Amino acid sequence: MNFAWLKSYMPRSFFGRSLMILLFPVVFLQLAVGLVFIQRHFAQVTQQMTHSVALELDYAADVIDSIDSFPEARLTLFTFARPFDMRLDLRQDKTVTPAARRYFYDISGKAIIDTLQAGLTRPTSIDLVRERQWVHVEIQTRHGALLADIPRGRVSASNPHQLLVLMVVISILLTLVSILFLRNQIRPIRELARVSEAFGKGRSESYTPRGATEVRRAGHAFLAMRARIERQIEQRTRMLSGVSHDLRTPLTRLKLSLAMQEETAETQDMRADVQEMEAMLEGFLSFARGDSLEDMETLPLGDLLDRIVQGWKRLDKPLALVVPSGAGDTRVTLRPDAVVRAVNNLISNAMHHADTVQLEVGLSDKTLTFTVQDDGPGIAPADREEALKPFARLDPARNQNSGSGVGLGLAIAADVARSHGGRLELADSPLGGLSASLILPR
Ligand SMILES: Nc1ncnc2c1ncn2[C@@H]1O[C@H](COP(=O)(O)OP(=O)(O)OP(=O)(O)O)[C@@H](O)[C@H]1O
Ligand SMILES: [Mg+2]
Repeated sequence: MNFAWLKSYMPRSFFGRSLMILLFPVVFLQLAVGLVFIQRHFAQVTQQMTHSVALELDYAADVIDSIDSFPEARLTLFTFARPFDMRLDLRQDKTVTPAARRYFYDISGKAIIDTLQAGLTRPTSIDLVRERQWVHVEIQTRHGALLADIPRGRVSASNPHQLLVLMVVISILLTLVSILFLRNQIRPIRELARVSEAFGKGRSESYTPRGATEVRRAGHAFLAMRARIERQIEQRTRMLSGVSHDLRTPLTRLKLSLAMQEETAETQDMRADVQEMEAMLEGFLSFARGDSLEDMETLPLGDLLDRIVQGWKRLDKPLALVVPSGAGDTRVTLRPDAVVRAVNNLISNAMHHADTVQLEVGLSDKTLTFTVQDDGPGIAPADREEALKPFARLDPARNQNSGSGVGLGLAIAADVARSHGGRLELADSPLGGLSASLILPR
């Protein structure tokens, strides 16, 4: 059997599931015990009451059979019926076909029919369907059919309402108590989920493990893990910037001595090499800075866009900006320097490779997206993953004249996106070139 379909009906939250696991047996047990008890109680009382009615009816039929003339039998029946609290009649023209009719859900009706059939030896028809409050019985006698209409109250016990009400009230009370207890148990788990989520987005929030042993253990493990990751990030950043910084001094000295040399083809080559090394060091340094040492800040999106656009004003290639109306006032939480650097890297790539460059800002409930589109050569889908790696320069020949970079621009942007819990996506642009999207969660 495949129970996969059942899954879609199950509660999704831990709270809902625990509540179900807790309450299902309780409610089920109450229902089962209650129903069985009521059923038993009902059936027994009904049997006893019906049995005495069956005796009365059987006696009436006996009396009628013992009288010879029909009018006399009928008269006797009426005198006889008065104290019985039921309507009796005799129909000479009618013969009884044995039958029993009841609604399928009429459980006590089954007991009534069974008991009457056992108590009456003559052909009998029993009808519980025609009227709800009456039991219609027909019994075959010498003089035709003996009709008896018996009030339902004489043969079956009424509902034990109190018991049902008590069961429902107790169930509700139990449920409320369990909800209260469960809430307290689940709060620490929610708390742990919250700080883990925040850390995924690059925020380190204060957290003290609480709750049941297992949850607390997971909490401490999370804290240890977080500390280790933070330490590693810091070490990596320190090392990268340290190395780059230390290399700068000898490089500057080299540049100085080169400047003092006579100008030859050889020194020119060397100067170009030194320049390239300097550019690489710049790249390392900004790669190192791209890491998450900067603090999160909440600021209007407009301020951030101003900072980005400012840097590209001086260029003769225009940067087209597409921003949804009113988005400028929306407050966003991020590392401004890092995000500005990442978006600038994307724009700089586009400016290198294309003539038309467009920066599009997208805002949804969950994400903030910066998309840079261009009409350049683009990157083939197969090369996109490669392009995101540090020091990856695709087709170096293509870039040579345009002042080739180190190959860190996209890697830095991807790193910034990741440190915010987001991602960098490369795709085809409707403009014809590359579309690079920096997608950050809000
Ligand atoms: N908009 C673009 N159109 C076409 N190719 C691109 C585009 N952006 C990036 N690329 C390709 O992806 C490669 C990697 O880009 P990335 O920005 O990481 O490095 P870079 O631009 O070469 O150097 P850096 O940005 O560090 O100065 C580039 O060398 C280029 O070949
Ligand atoms: Mg670049």
